[in-house]
Amino acid sequence: MIKPVEVAVFPVGGLGTRFLPATKSIPKEMLPVVDKPLIQYAYEQAKEAGIKQFIFITGRNKNTITNHFDHAFELQKVLDEKEKKAMLSQVKDWLPEAGNIAFIRQQEPKGLGHAIYCAHHFIGDRPFAVLLADEMYLSEKPFMKSMVDIHNQYGGNVIGVGEVSEEKVSSYGIVAPSGATDGDYFTIKGMVEKPKSEDAPSRFSISGQYILQPEIFHYIEQAKAGKDGEIQLTDALNAMVKDVPTRAVPFRGMRFDCGNKQGFLAANIAFALSRKDMREETLETLKTLVNQADDIPVQ
Ligand code: UTP
Repeated sequence: MIKPVEVAVFPVGGLGTRFLPATKSIPKEMLPVVDKPLIQYAYEQAKEAGIKQFIFITGRNKNTITNHFDHAFELQKVLDEKEKKAMLSQVKDWLPEAGNIAFIRQQEPKGLGHAIYCAHHFIGDRPFAVLLADEMYLSEKPFMKSMVDIHNQYGGNVIGVGEVSEEKVSSYGIVAPSGATDGDYFTIKGMVEKPKSEDAPSRFSISGQYILQPEIFHYIEQAKAGKDGEIQLTDALNAMVKDVPTRAVPFRGMRFDCGNKQGFLAANIAFALSRKDMREETLETLKTLVNQADDIPVQ
């Protein structure tokens, strides 16, 4: 019997070095796209996919994430007294129910595989979703919901992937499909980390969302740390696909890698353009900036 996906893990224990100096004291996952932190988008994706329990793998310096998912008593009191209902709703209406949220400290940032492993006692023998706050998707149906639907039908591991240009395959983990890739999903037989474009088994890169069977913890235990001392999830997954059916679900909309500056900037513009209350003004701002670009001093 296929067990439902009830729990999501959000690894937020990384150092976010690509965003220094901003991430010296602010977690990368709290950087806002328009007016909402990256981590809240990821949480909402999971919630809209029907997931009810949320585990955050945090680290030192990440307390603002914990606070963001809690009540802000003084702020709420003031907004309540001033009858600022819309603002109050933005502050608290989306919070998880009591008892459905947990924070686990990853004591050292030893890679994504290690971060996920920190949740193993709490996950037990259930399948679970993993969502990286870095990865943002612009679509009507939450991408995680499409992945949950495939999982409910077939079980196994489900990995979110997105098509990248030939020049970009060498920057990502790329999956090796076992057959045709034109449907809603395709099975995979492995994955390669940052291949040269001529060696790449496809142009589908691993994006930041996964549904994993609990056996993954065994494969993470077996995975060796790389040169940088990090335990990579892809190494564990690569070993696991030989034993457990693993399907890739391609995302066919706009996707943003907010782990790098250009992706983050593009996400801010695209999400502003997707909002009724901001679209027109954002277009005007963009036009003005493009016209004035030559006058902007470059340093
Ligand atoms: P990244 O590699 O993109 O994040 O990991 P990072 O290491 O924080 O960023 P850079 O490369 O130094 O700029 C993807 C996600 O996995 C989490 C990160 O917090 C991020 O959300 N992560 C990474 C952990 O939770 N623990 C780790 O040890 C590493």
